[in-house]
Amino acid sequence: MRILDKFNLNTIDRPYILVCSSNSQMLFAKELMDKAKIENQLIPTPKGFGGVCTTAIKFPEDHTQEVAGLTATYGLEIEGIYPMTSRYKYDLSTIEAKGLSDRLMEILSRISENAELDRDEIKYLLEIEDETEYKALLQAADIIRRECVGQHIELRAAIEFSNYCSKNCNYCGVRRDKKMTRYRMSEEDILGEVDLLNRIGIKTVILQSGEDSYYTAEKIIKIIKKIKGKYGMQITLSIGERNNNEFALFREAGVNNYLLKIETANRELFQQLHPDDDFELRVAQSRQIKDAGIRLGSGGMVGLPGQTIDHLVEDIIFQRDFGVHMIGFGPFLPAKGTPYEAMPPGDLRLSLKMIAVARIVCQHVFLPATTAIASLNPEAQALALMAGANTIMLVSTPKELRNNYQIYSNKNMVDLSFAIKSVQEAGRKLPKYLNFKYIEELGYKIPKELIE
Ligand code: 5AD
Ligand code: SF4
Repeated sequence: MRILDKFNLNTIDRPYILVCSSNSQMLFAKELMDKAKIENQLIPTPKGFGGVCTTAIKFPEDHTQEVAGLTATYGLEIEGIYPMTSRYKYDLSTIEAKGLSDRLMEILSRISENAELDRDEIKYLLEIEDETEYKALLQAADIIRRECVGQHIELRAAIEFSNYCSKNCNYCGVRRDKKMTRYRMSEEDILGEVDLLNRIGIKTVILQSGEDSYYTAEKIIKIIKKIKGKYGMQITLSIGERNNNEFALFREAGVNNYLLKIETANRELFQQLHPDDDFELRVAQSRQIKDAGIRLGSGGMVGLPGQTIDHLVEDIIFQRDFGVHMIGFGPFLPAKGTPYEAMPPGDLRLSLKMIAVARIVCQHVFLPATTAIASLNPEAQALALMAGANTIMLVSTPKELRNNYQIYSNKNMVDLSFAIKSVQEAGRKLPKYLNFKYIEELGYKIPKELIE
């Protein structure tokens, strides 16, 4: 048995999906299905069945009557119940066939049919070296990105509010044993930052920290409620593993997304990187986040010491079969003062291939052009946006603190000007929700073609 089979990923053979008209209706439907012992899984709504970043419930075909009965009995507001086989098709005919191997042509044809790629096909794509094939891979990812999430970049902002951490992950520059200045932001300071973000029109704020028990659930919830009450922004929490009863409380307080990366879906490698963690627990927590009705952000690092292409294939399959809504893959970068400080950084091309394959395989999800890839090479954020990515996260930690949040060395403090430059280089658009007038008043130049 492969290790991931233990987690019952993708066990539903002839899948149907139930799409509800709101998240709360979806959660109600899931509760009813759990009670009726109908096997089900929350997944990002596939392209063609609903909006990006909404959640559908996948269940086996033999239960369609029963699910329809439940929705009718309880008066659930639903969009519909559909077989997943009537899937969206992608037009890849603009990809030049000349110079591509028969094998790649066959895989591309399966991608355009929206067939589920198997291990060998995913491995073939990740191992592409030939320049023509590499371009074709990125082009396929770009076409699917455009169909699924369009031309507008999603711009989010992260406030790294504490660099205290009780863990000692071998790769991380804020790990427990690292001697460094530690800081914690007060509620007031966090809200002050959120206010600035709200003024420029940012719609999603990411509250990120090390694993810091100083911020009890109570403290976090207080902050969440204030942000929700005053600004109504979407909130992503990225504060590590927590007691599993806290996820539901966070959801009730208004948390929309929770970023808890698997880092690697290979158990042995995971254990090697994380002296304080347990792979099964990380998977269990990821599931609890989803089951609490919060969208899960996951992903991992590319080029970790000891990582192979087969591990990366596992990573892609994990993200797909686990039903992750936001998938961040970035290169491993050595951080000074950590056990891995002398290790080589992850490879740019391989990182871009991972993003492309993640888009091709997972499709209707958000993929960031990560801060890590922008730190590897300043051009790389734009390249990631051209390889399937659609999201940028601004570093919005106060200037006097951010240098102490170097999870890897030479971090690129991606700010608004940097993001604008990446969006321009990639030929994409800034999100319509930004307050362009105010941003220009602050002195930023926004090229006209980025607004539309
Ligand atoms: N190199 C690259 N990414 C890293 N992260 C942490 N340390 C490193 C590193 N040395 C990433 C991990 C983590 C996120 C906060 O940053 O994926 O989840
Ligand atoms: Fe702490 Fe996260 Fe760094 Fe691990 S990766 S040491 S949990 S901040």
